[in-house]
Amino acid sequence: MNPMHSHDMTNHAATFACGELCIVNKPATSPTLCVVISQEEAVIECYEVLALTDNPSTSGDNWFLLSEATASRSAEYLDLRQPIFTGPMNIASRQGQLSASTIEALLRALVQRQVKRYSQHKFPSKAFQPGQNAVAVSGKVLDNNDIQHMVDASLDGWLTTGRFNAQFEKALAEFIGVKHVLTVNSGSSANLLALTALTSPKLGDKALQKGDEVITVAAGFPTTVNPILQNGLVPVFVDITLPSYNIDVSQLEAALSDKTRAIMMAHTLGNTFNIDAVVRFARQHNLWLIEDCCDALGTTYAPSVELTDYRGQPIALNQPRHVGTFGDIATLSFYPAHHITMGEGGAVYTNNGQLKLILESFRDWGRDCFCEPGKDNTCNKRFSYQLGQLPCGYDHKYTYSHLGYNLKISDMQAAVGLSQLDKVTGFIEKRKANFQRLYAGLASLQDYLLLPEAENNAEPSWFGFAITLKQGNRADFIQYLEQHKIANRLVFGGNLIKQPYFEQQSYRKVGELTITDQVMNDSLWIGVFPGLSDEMIDYMIDTIQSYFKV
Ligand SMILES: Cc1ncc(COP(=O)(O)O)c(C=O)c1O
Repeated sequence: MNPMHSHDMTNHAATFACGELCIVNKPATSPTLCVVISQEEAVIECYEVLALTDNPSTSGDNWFLLSEATASRSAEYLDLRQPIFTGPMNIASRQGQLSASTIEALLRALVQRQVKRYSQHKFPSKAFQPGQNAVAVSGKVLDNNDIQHMVDASLDGWLTTGRFNAQFEKALAEFIGVKHVLTVNSGSSANLLALTALTSPKLGDKALQKGDEVITVAAGFPTTVNPILQNGLVPVFVDITLPSYNIDVSQLEAALSDKTRAIMMAHTLGNTFNIDAVVRFARQHNLWLIEDCCDALGTTYAPSVELTDYRGQPIALNQPRHVGTFGDIATLSFYPAHHITMGEGGAVYTNNGQLKLILESFRDWGRDCFCEPGKDNTCNKRFSYQLGQLPCGYDHKYTYSHLGYNLKISDMQAAVGLSQLDKVTGFIEKRKANFQRLYAGLASLQDYLLLPEAENNAEPSWFGFAITLKQGNRADFIQYLEQHKIANRLVFGGNLIKQPYFEQQSYRKVGELTITDQVMNDSLWIGVFPGLSDEMIDYMIDTIQSYFKV
């Protein structure tokens, strides 16, 4: 083809549509194939376009100009190069029109080019100036990929849970090594969903009933405990130990009553509770176990005693498994402070297929139907059921077997989660490295500070670095850290029983919760999240060392 002998020479007034392929005369170079993106009056915005060969191995340079053949190519075979702004007089010929789906993909690629530029500008890595810049305690670590994913999902115009969510749930399940992951709109929703699922009548006499007791701890985040109260159950608080900040398992027996039906608690700050002891106790007494893993994504535990799973099958000895795969249901949070983020978000996960269906029902309005969003009649019996006192054939899509909620996420959230998940291994490694560096740097202060210790058999993916003051005044220490721009947090609610909202609640406690009170009075935590550089960690160490004048 010689573009100079085209049958369709254009004139100054001609108009060109988005997706039209044209040969464009360029000054000082040979004419080139372009795709038109837009025309505003006499200015045409087009891009040089290259097409990939079907058989990439036949040519050294896999990209070359294919002229007419390019029009039939789908977007993955096309590459937009330089933009050209030109006028109709420089269009030598029209070569064809790309399909609507190819245009969509090319326009999307152009948007992504701009988004990448924008986000590299918006989120540059900044030099750290000790004492001038704040050292955060936690926070989101975003890059251009996260923003591009989020934009990609919004360009779908789908908005509700969709293709990115399906990919995210699958990828997260593979990462954890669990059968079912369901996303929800927060870690608190995940906890509410997990506990509420265990009240399902579908569980027969295993279903939790109002007044049943659930063993937990008071040194933690309120929404680990609140679902117990919200469902009319009674939390039974057991003390914790230091420096694990997790349940004192020697008090489990004392917590047991004939009403005990479940255990629900967190792996505090990424450190596991004693899984050997807790799982054994739970199975021995037929108790449900919910693991709140909101602060522990990536933490593993290698059991050193024989444990069984929800089916009574043995769990491999001394093999590390992700937390949340030992009990019946586990939860995650994707709020920015957590190991990966989607802004607001969370997940529940389980290996138990029956629980998965129940969780899904409670999450999705309480419905009996399990069709994916946008799908109908997956079971082929949509109009054949007779359930409750509804007439036979009542639409299964509008049949509700649980007192449910809508706790789903949008696909934009899932898209960010998916790109964050690509980075999770690096994030976890950095959290561990920051923890080790802090520990080594503060080890000489052990007369003043109680430093955190990993539970036996655990490999924590640390959420934060907990410190309990052995002497001195916490308020004074916190003020000093704030003055030096080192952010810090208390261990969540301290002793939840002493929170104002607890005055109206019914609960039971084992003993005096002395260590819980100690944490409420003398503990705090500082950051280890991947946004902290070695320089920042060293600054924290030096500043804390100076406080104790070592
Ligand atoms: C242990 C624990 N559980 C639950 C939550 C609640 O998660 P979300 O903020 O996503 O509701 C948090 C929040 O930080 C948490 O630390």
